Amino acid sequence: MSFTPTDRPRRLRTDGIHPLVRETTVDAQDLIAPVFVDETTDERVPISSMPGHERVPVDEAAARVEEIQETGVEAVIVFGVPDTKDEVGSEAYAEDGVVQRGIREITANTDAYVIGDVCLCEYTDHGHCGVLEPHAHDDPTLTVKNDDTLELLADIAVSQAEAGADMVAPSSMTDGMVGAIRTALDDAGFEHIPIMSYAAKYESSFYGPFREAADGAPAFGDRRHYQMDPANRREAHREVALDAEEGADVLMVKPALPYLDIVRDVREQSDKPVAAYNVSGEYAMIHAAAEKGWLDLEATAYESLLSIKRAGADLILTYFAEDIAEQL
Ligand code: PBG
Repeated sequence: MSFTPTDRPRRLRTDGIHPLVRETTVDAQDLIAPVFVDETTDERVPISSMPGHERVPVDEAAARVEEIQETGVEAVIVFGVPDTKDEVGSEAYAEDGVVQRGIREITANTDAYVIGDVCLCEYTDHGHCGVLEPHAHDDPTLTVKNDDTLELLADIAVSQAEAGADMVAPSSMTDGMVGAIRTALDDAGFEHIPIMSYAAKYESSFYGPFREAADGAPAFGDRRHYQMDPANRREAHREVALDAEEGADVLMVKPALPYLDIVRDVREQSDKPVAAYNVSGEYAMIHAAAEKGWLDLEATAYESLLSIKRAGADLILTYFAEDIAEQL
């Protein structure tokens, strides 16, 4: 048998031409590094399920961000671990809350681009992302009171902007959160502060290590009454349309790798920038396999980020930010 190929794609796979025909790249400027500021400690505390990551005390927040900037990454998203929690998450919107203090420290000492994560789960004693329904303990299908939560989210966003945040990123999947935050920011004179909405955020098992890192696991029940069902694709379209309409400037999909179809959908649905959150579990599993010698850490991390960009993301929130930026 002699068959001669009609075309030869391999002609474009030589070393010299590879870079010329490459369709996607990852740059340090595409990446946002998560930072955990912890009010309960005077020392840095390593996060065991996320090798290389630590919770840092408030007075080391700027030093931590400088380390990140040395790798070429210029943007950070700040999460807080407060020293007290209560039913309504007061420390999330306190003027001297851990994130507000951390943001002041970072903006006073660095020129990093600082994003505040706007949510209540790390600050409520029950670990849910909002105000609880009175009977939530008996009937977990109720959990969070939507509209009462909106006011608190608006307070968090304004308090973060007052502390100097360049952008806010609501992650609670409360209906109307983008509209409520936009209105509150505008009323407080922060009409220039953009909102990156966690628009399509799924009720995912890949958040496990983060919940250890930020101490934000729900004390009872789960988040399926406000986060999205992993089975749903069309629903993401509705969520994204709503957030875009309410004024979201950047639309996020979370997690990233198991949801690349959604990243692609959002890219095609909207001409606003698309973000993807390469979450803690995606990071932890590559690290665990690499520790066993089963995967090459840097190669698989890079390929992950490249794939997320190829799917359509403009920016990526990732715990690999520093490692990959250094490698570039
Ligand atoms: C807070 C929040 C979570 C993450 C980001 N913001 C946790 C959650 O929703 O349970 C997860 C990030 C990660 O896993 O890396 N709502």
